[in-house]
Amino acid sequence: MIQAPRGTFDILPESAQKRKLVEAEADRILGAAGYRRIETPTFEATELFARGVGEATDIVQKEMYTFDDGAGRSLTLRPEGTAPVCRAYLEHGMRKLAQPVKLWYLSSFFRAEAPQRGRYRQFWQVGAEAIGSEAPETDAELIVLLADLLEAVGVRKTRLRLSSLGTPASRAEYREELKAFLHEHEDELAEDVRTRIDLNPMRAFDSGDPGTKAVMRDAPKLLDRLDPDDAEHFARVQALLDDAGLRYELDPALVRGLDYYTRTVFEFSSEELGAQSGVGGGGRYDGLIELLDGPSTPASGWAAGVERMLLAARELPPAPEFVDLFVALAKQDGSRIAFELALEARRAGLQAQLELAGRSLKGQLKHADRIGARYVAIIGENGVATLKDMQSGEQHDTGVRDVIPEILRAERMR
Ligand code: HAM
Repeated sequence: MIQAPRGTFDILPESAQKRKLVEAEADRILGAAGYRRIETPTFEATELFARGVGEATDIVQKEMYTFDDGAGRSLTLRPEGTAPVCRAYLEHGMRKLAQPVKLWYLSSFFRAEAPQRGRYRQFWQVGAEAIGSEAPETDAELIVLLADLLEAVGVRKTRLRLSSLGTPASRAEYREELKAFLHEHEDELAEDVRTRIDLNPMRAFDSGDPGTKAVMRDAPKLLDRLDPDDAEHFARVQALLDDAGLRYELDPALVRGLDYYTRTVFEFSSEELGAQSGVGGGGRYDGLIELLDGPSTPASGWAAGVERMLLAARELPPAPEFVDLFVALAKQDGSRIAFELALEARRAGLQAQLELAGRSLKGQLKHADRIGARYVAIIGENGVATLKDMQSGEQHDTGVRDVIPEILRAERMR
């Protein structure tokens, strides 16, 4: 039997219902702050991600689904949404609009990672991007909006970590300092950290090795090396979060898997999730638009994984299925009348279904009960129908034409 590809999953109706809640809350919470929906194509020119996300990142090195379009162009299934939104911002001349331009999306993304709980090869993200504002208020607003969304969806045991990466220049300087420090302590470091000192010195902060951990306690921290402007920007973000009553931890070792970040970075995690604990994260990316050949434009944003939100959320009661009217047949030859009655009922705003499986009348009533039908209209002969109230069990004969008005009237009285 053919199965869904490894790392992918079907969204069955019950799960689609829960996702609808995530979408409705995102629309409500982000809409109230002026964010408007955007959707970009599922695939883009490979170069957009190579440049935008960064050649050296795991995403670009190992995780992209890249293919040739048959005409010699290299395309890639989007692994993330920030670079595509920036591409769209430039392509549609959005810098002529009032700034910042606030956009949000709920789309599927693709990464060829090893699948495990909370990590898939096709997954969904809700994302928000504010392009054209340098203000620390923008970062703080975005962080609070994500906190509100996680809360509204019922995500439990969340923790917010916050840091600042400063500018690329101060970061490069700091990197050299950190490398020199690590080389000085080479013999106290774990093998895998030692071999990657020059390639990725920041990874040393993530090591679980006790010797490395001891060394890293005294390592220079990027947060202590920020330019005065960056330090002030970061202090302001923190003050705003304090005012908003949002709790966070400063994590000088917070590393994100994408190269475009500058200044503020943050990540929400949940203890409910185990190994893949990141629910959502983001930060400022002041250099990205320029990297994509646009004018220098500050920007900030985040994305949160829908599957991880739902895994970390309280189990929601299933939304009750509701059917106003089931149209049953006393005899099969009433089917044209039944068909028309169901259509008319839907046009009148009722949820209506009709018999489609050739069941006996007894079978049809059982079925109507199972799908939770409020009323059943049994089509009889000569334009007469029996209208049964499934809650009270009462029934009476009426004209087929009167079925809908009667139900509407009864519903108005309730
Ligand atoms: P990211 O941290 O790579 O950031 O992904 C954001 C969220 O997407 C993660 O926290 C996680 O919940 C979810 N996610 C990532 N990979 C997977 C996967 N393989 N399976 C399931 N869920 C996953 C970004 O993508 C940036 N574009 C966020 C951003 C927006 N930064 C600025 N603006």
